Amino acid sequence: MTIETRSLSDSEIRALATRIDRPVVLVGMMGVGKSTIGRKLAQLLDVPFADADEEIEEAAQLSVAEIFEKFGEAYFRDGERRVIARLLDGGPSVLATGGGAFVQPDTRELILQRGIAVWLDSDVQTLVERVARRDTRPLLRGGDPKEIVGRLKAEREGAYAEAPIKVMSNTGPHGDTVNRILQELAAWL
Ligand code: S3P
Repeated sequence: MTIETRSLSDSEIRALATRIDRPVVLVGMMGVGKSTIGRKLAQLLDVPFADADEEIEEAAQLSVAEIFEKFGEAYFRDGERRVIARLLDGGPSVLATGGGAFVQPDTRELILQRGIAVWLDSDVQTLVERVARRDTRPLLRGGDPKEIVGRLKAEREGAYAEAPIKVMSNTGPHGDTVNRILQELAAWL
């Protein structure tokens, strides 16, 4: 059975945008499409978009992989929390976070207090297919992506489930996922 996604009209999207008073924060596993979907969502809502991983790279002048390599994961998580705290202060926006951000209790608390968290979820097979397109993720190095993604997803789901909104992002076009997010936001706000 296919569940139809009705597209919101331009005026419905404009009306929704006026009700969004905080950053919409996309959380969920690596490979789910947070950055691509986040950019499209921000464009439709006509608000700024920020990618937390890119902002961390900019602040550190190093790639995420280099930060993990040189300083370790705990250092990365600390910088991630500080960067996300700053981005949450900037008014309405769409913010894509790295897959581990919302799993960190302090970062999750900040996002839940100051943003509208949307958990983007996919099945493991789809995530593995999507992460295979890039080899920049330090947590996937030197292991079997299916095993690692499956294990991290199982470990992290309890944290992701604290987001007030959940939207599935399986194999269909990203535009459908964006529409579902808009509908869920409209229903939730
Ligand atoms: C991570 C996901 C990555 C990045 C870092 C750690 C994780 O972001 O923040 O490699 O812990 O799942 P994406 O979710 O954008 O791949």
